[in-house]
Amino acid sequence: MKKIKILDSQEGYNLAAKNYDKKKSYLDSFEKDVLWNLVGDVLGKKILDVGAGTGRVSVELAKRGSDVVALDISEEMLNKLKVKSRKVKVEVGDAENLPFSDEAFDGVIATFLIVHLKDPKRFFDEVYRVLKPGSFFVVTNINQKRPPEVETEKGKIIIDSYYHRPEKIRELLEELAFSVEEEQFVKEGEVWVNQIIKCIK
Ligand SMILES: C[S@@+](CC[C@H](N)C(=O)[O-])C[C@H]1O[C@@H](n2cnc3c(N)ncnc32)[C@H](O)[C@@H]1O
Repeated sequence: MKKIKILDSQEGYNLAAKNYDKKKSYLDSFEKDVLWNLVGDVLGKKILDVGAGTGRVSVELAKRGSDVVALDISEEMLNKLKVKSRKVKVEVGDAENLPFSDEAFDGVIATFLIVHLKDPKRFFDEVYRVLKPGSFFVVTNINQKRPPEVETEKGKIIIDSYYHRPEKIRELLEELAFSVEEEQFVKEGEVWVNQIIKCIK
């Protein structure tokens, strides 16, 4: 039997990019209306979407009138985004070392990203730095204890992932002086599938 390769996000998503958009409605189901209700009005705001992937969220932000920068560590994921919208500015980079100046954004969003970060603290620190005072950060944390196998042209792979307890995520944000404005759990039956937090710098 062939061994399934475990890859880091950059290598993994470069391979997974081709088929990623087939999962759009499945991914949307982890957010229902909660994500967009928490994000609220973005018209005219400069928003950074971190771990933006193929632009599932960035493209919608641009449609809602925001000035969007999409950052991702996988160039192939961003290449998919580029053909969907010319309004979104794309940048290859690392969430843990954001290539932006202090207080550059009115909002930061990160969906399905922190599951790939071993310790989200470094990323949260960076988000705090690039946000203007009083602006928002919306982050999602999926309840995924075992990473899924992903089908690619080069066979099945697993992309490095980490489970984060929801209390830990909230605690980390509060330790950094973010104030949590809202925390919601999207559920399937009795089980939470996604923690969505909106906090303010
Ligand atoms: C599951 S996808 C989510 C994409 C998009 N946010 C969405 O909701 O559809 C995770 C994305 O995070 C990116 N990623 C993982 N680790 C990263 C890091 N350290 N810095 C920037 N992007 C990263 C991956 O390349 C991938 O595109």
